[in-house]
Parts: sequence; structure tokens; C-alpha cells
Amino acid sequence: MTTPCQYIHLCKTSDVWEGVPLKVEKDGQAFAIFNIDNQFFVTDDACTHGPGSLSEGDMEGEHVTCNFHNGVFNVRTGEAVAAPCTVALKTYTVKLDADELSIQLE
Ligand code: FES
Repeated sequence: MTTPCQYIHLCKTSDVWEGVPLKVEKDGQAFAIFNIDNQFFVTDDACTHGPGSLSEGDMEGEHVTCNFHNGVFNVRTGEAVAAPCTVALKTYTVKLDADELSIQLE
């Protein structure tokens, strides 16, 4: 028997402006949501390098620059692409239901 997927609703897609990350807190956890050409990506909000908040970072294409030490991550994959960041961000599978955006729990 397989376990059904569980989802957490985070926001509406219209809440996430292109190129402007949105922070959403749910169940004590902070997520950063990114809109790239109306494709949506969700990562942990906390930088893996330190106290930076990626929802406060600057986006350029699929990259976000941390607001603290200017490390860079790919928001599609979570990969750390510029120093001082070396540890990937956790990314989440996004589920869209009309304009309701949820992420899948593992
Ligand atoms: S806290 Fe994000 S780059 Fe250092």
C-alpha cells in the first residue's frame, strides 16, 4: 500500500511577483517562493551559509543572491553556485491547483 502525498498550501500564485521572492511561514518553517516566467519554485528561506533570508535576496534569472554575504543559489535546483555558499538549498515540489500554490511533503 502506498502512502498518499501530503501538501502544504503556501499562497496564491498572484501573490508572487516575477523576480520578487516571497517569504511564507507555515508550521514554524519559512519558505522562499520564486516566480520565473510564471513558473514557481520553492526553497527553504534560510541561507545554508548563515543568517541570510533568501526571500530578501535579489533575483536574476534563476539565481538568487543572499542578502547577507552575497552567496548565490539556483532556485530551480537549490545548487549553491557562488561563494561563500557551498551547501545546496532544500527545494520542494510545487503543486498548482488553479492559482493555489502548495508544496509536497516528503
Ligand atoms: S548568510 Fe547567505 S551568503 Fe552568508
